[in-house]
Amino acid sequence: MNFENCISTGTKLDRYVILKPVSKGGFSIVYLAVDQQTKERVIIKEFMPKNQAKRLRNNTVTPISATKARLFQKGRMLFFQEASILTTLKHPNIVNVINFFRANGTVYMVMEFEAGDNLQCYIKKKIKNGLSERFILTVFPTLLEGLQVIHDSGYLHLDIKPGNIHIRPGGRPLLIDFGSVHRRELSRLHQPGQVMTTGYAPIEQFKRTGYVGPWTDLYAIGATIRSCLEGRPPIDSRLRLDKHQLVDAKTLFKKHYSQELLKAIDWCMEMDPELRPQTVAELTEKLPLLEETKSKPSQWLLRLTGSSRR
Ligand SMILES: Nc1ncnc2c1ncn2[C@@H]1O[C@H](COP(=O)(O)OP(=O)(O)OP(=O)(O)O)[C@@H](O)[C@H]1O
Ligand SMILES: [Mg+2]
Repeated sequence: MNFENCISTGTKLDRYVILKPVSKGGFSIVYLAVDQQTKERVIIKEFMPKNQAKRLRNNTVTPISATKARLFQKGRMLFFQEASILTTLKHPNIVNVINFFRANGTVYMVMEFEAGDNLQCYIKKKIKNGLSERFILTVFPTLLEGLQVIHDSGYLHLDIKPGNIHIRPGGRPLLIDFGSVHRRELSRLHQPGQVMTTGYAPIEQFKRTGYVGPWTDLYAIGATIRSCLEGRPPIDSRLRLDKHQLVDAKTLFKKHYSQELLKAIDWCMEMDPELRPQTVAELTEKLPLLEETKSKPSQWLLRLTGSSRR
């Protein structure tokens, strides 16, 4: 990883000491750090939009130009909002935000450190064969329990994709990166300016008048499961409006996965939001169940991640 623009190892920040940067995204830098009081490792996410801000020698983060200043301030406010929402959303499958604070002209979010890797890394390792149905049915029904809590609390995630799903030992999934979290009561219309990930974002997220709802996150869930089979993101939903057809998962993967699972993927990925499952519960009901994973998820996953399809 390129360490340019990152805070250096050993720097004190509030009650934490930076150990190393672990990831650099378009809007933030994620660090591994240690809490000086508890001695526990934590993850600190710093608001640092790379096209709008730079770091000064004293670590202060400042807009790169006067024209970018307003964007930076708005983004910083939304980041602060993301952190405060997350401190209220408590669930074993939602990343645990334990603190957030302002420093260096920006905002920091402190999360419990979780061992594991994101789902994108698992997909890359299995790019030729696809992840097994058992792996998928170990991870997704549990992940959907967390998503249900987000929806029940009146929020939408709006950026579900493999890179934002962290898989802990034993296959226990964790939904992370709430940078696009959206409060449903404020507006059912999608807000322009939010970040969309090609392949995972349905058409209503690209339209100014797009009507977002739980069905929007469920399209992304379907696209994420499909990429576990296919090894790459599905085509951009905007291209599907034209002549670019997405061949049904039901047809494409019928040799290797159950019809129930494939039908669920195609259902989530319907272009028309009204044809998709409208709630997490509707989808969960149609997903095949793995009885074994209920009792011993860790042992199953150890076997599954090392095995081929089904
Ligand atoms: N609590 C955590 N424990 C361990 N690793 C984490 C944790 N949170 C995030 N990570 C790791 O850091 C990576 C980046 O995190 P995240 O998705 O939140 O930020 P990002 O995508 O870099 O941000 P953005 O795109 O908004 O700038 C994740 O894919 C994951 O591997
Ligand atoms: Mg991310």
